[in-house]
Amino acid sequence: METSNQVKLTSLTTKGGCGCKIGPADLVQVLQSLPPAVSNPNLLVGLDTSDDAGVYKLTDDVAIVQTLDFFTPIVDDPYDFGQIAATNAISDVYAMGGTPITALNIVAFPIAKLDKSILTEILRGAGDKLKEAGVTLVGGHSIDDQEPKFGLAVTGTVHPEKVLTNAGAKAGDKLVLTKPIGVGIYTTSLKHGALSNEEIERVTSIMTTLNKTASEVMSKYEVHAATDVTGFGLLGHATEMAKASGIGIRIISEQVPILPRTKELAEAGRIPGGTKSNYAHVDDAVTYADKLDQLDRYILCDAVTSGGLLISVSANDVDQLIDEMNKKGVHAAIIGEVTSVHSGNIHVD
Ligand code: CO
Ligand code: CO
Repeated sequence: METSNQVKLTSLTTKGGCGCKIGPADLVQVLQSLPPAVSNPNLLVGLDTSDDAGVYKLTDDVAIVQTLDFFTPIVDDPYDFGQIAATNAISDVYAMGGTPITALNIVAFPIAKLDKSILTEILRGAGDKLKEAGVTLVGGHSIDDQEPKFGLAVTGTVHPEKVLTNAGAKAGDKLVLTKPIGVGIYTTSLKHGALSNEEIERVTSIMTTLNKTASEVMSKYEVHAATDVTGFGLLGHATEMAKASGIGIRIISEQVPILPRTKELAEAGRIPGGTKSNYAHVDDAVTYADKLDQLDRYILCDAVTSGGLLISVSANDVDQLIDEMNKKGVHAAIIGEVTSVHSGNIHVD
């Protein structure tokens, strides 16, 4: 039996680096082949809009926000893996403008192969993040499995009229991103032993930073749309926003915060499969400036775990929003703008 000192958790995964989501093209096909769900007037946000979480109205003042995320280990430290999984799962509630309140753990673990102490550490990491977010753990479910997998179902509350979705971005808005990208390329490099300890710490600290402060600040300003950047990458999530809002988006590539060694690591071939399928999936909707080479384009589509919020905010409010976020330790940047032309499309300069 392997204990947490010996085992490299990321080496136990058959795939990895990106959280192993089913690719967007396949997922869309599967969902479209199902009969439409029974409609309910209280369902404010459902399956059909590619949003971060479902929202269901309980009363005129309260709606619940529900989301679920789980994946295979993307770092070797079990405590960090638990923290990342919790931060990532809670993020979808923050992205909808909600307040997370309860969570359930979802565990798959090879109990005959790995020491129980590894699972203890995963759950301790998640528990500490839940505490930081003010979320109460109410239960969970575990199964014996070949590969460890962990995640959470999270429930939050939101005022039914204050739900933030992908839709609602307005021409003239500025687009803000609150964490750097390149996380998928970094975690794939980690799996191949190509990161220094400092780099592992850096990318881990990005993935374990709650979007709580970013979400609280965002709620004070005129924000028209929001999502979090995760498995479908910056351009994947931006495309979903452009389509749902019926607007165009211009991204200024030099302003996008990117982890420092991302391009070098991409050049060495550490590009997750999910990143390449994201790139292919958004190809029809995205035009790139000629100066951007193939690696630059992949990086903008890089499959992220526990990424930042992508916020469409009124141009009048953006400077104050950035200022307040920066003062509170959120490294937010303006990365582009919303346009009235080329609805549903992205142009990257
Ligand atoms: Co999300
Ligand atoms: Co999600």
